[in-house]
Parts: sequence; C-alpha cells; structure tokens
Amino acid sequence: MDKQQLRFTIALLSIVTGPAMQVQAALFTAQQAEKGKIAFNNHCAECHRPDLTGAMGPALTGPAFHKMWNGKTVQDLFNFEHQKMPATNPGSVPKKQDWLITSFILEKNGLKPGNTELGPKAGGQILDMK
Ligand code: HEC
Repeated sequence: MDKQQLRFTIALLSIVTGPAMQVQAALFTAQQAEKGKIAFNNHCAECHRPDLTGAMGPALTGPAFHKMWNGKTVQDLFNFEHQKMPATNPGSVPKKQDWLITSFILEKNGLKPGNTELGPKAGGQILDMK
C-alpha cells in the first residue's frame, strides 16, 4: 500500500468507526456526577435507594434498567425523570438538577466521566449501559 492509499484507508476507517465511537464518548463530568449524587439523595433516594438498587421505585441500575433504556437517548431518560419523577410530585426538580441527577445515574451504570458537561446538547446520544 502506498502513502496515498494508506491515507485513504485511514480516512475511510474514521468514517466507519466515528459514529460508534461517539456512543462511547464521555457524556458528563465527574463534578456533575458528584453534585448529582447529592441531588439524587435529596429527591430520589427515598424510593430508589442511595445505591439505586430500588425500593418503592424500581432499581435504576442492573439488567432490567439497561434493557429499558439502552438504545434510547439520554434525552428520553431525562424527560422521564423530569416529567414523571419524583413520582409523588412530578416536574418539581429543576432541569439543571435533573441533568446532574442523570449524570450520577449514568456513572452508577458504568459510564465514565470526561470533559463535556451533560445538558440538552448531548440529549441525542444513544444510551449503551453495561
Ligand atoms: C415517591 C417515590 C419516588 C420518588 C421520590 C422518585 N421515584 Fe422514580 N420511580 C418511582 C416509581 C414507583 C417508579 C415506577 C413507575 C413508573 O415507571 O412510572 C419509578 C420509576 C423511575 C424510573 C424508570 C425506571 C425504569 O426502569 O422503568 C426512573 C428513571 C426514575 N424513576 C428516576 C427517578 C428520579 C431521577 C427521581 C428523583 C428526581 C425519582 N425517580 C424519584 C418512585 C419514585
């Protein structure tokens, strides 16, 4: 393979692997997840437990949770949290807090923090929790 062919192959590969890599991209910062933990404990933990294993509300980790949300977008999860939760007072938690809570939930589901803040701009990202 000459240099030009090699360059072409690399360009082609980055097109093919690009979208797949986006899914793995870090969606939130460590700071957001940290703040989200406090907000979660204040607004959600009474029903979902501080470790997210569930009580009155279902677990927000584990296979059933992944089955429910993988393939959907971050925005879908956010919307559910913001519009349907907390179950006794839906919509009462401000959006900014809900993005922090979402960061915490994603971290608890094995996603790694990075340099980009989670917010409406990242809403289109597809969830892939393991
Ligand atoms: C008063 C109890 C209660 C509180 C507080 C509460 N939840 Fe829930 N939650 C539930 C119940 C009950 C369900 C199941 C019913 C449903 O899906 O509508 C649920 C379902 C969920 C689900 C969907 C889980 C799944 O796999 O279907 C998510 C996500 C969620 N809650 C997030 C939150 C967040 C985030 C907060 C805090 C902002 C919160 N909940 C506060 C009771 C609660």
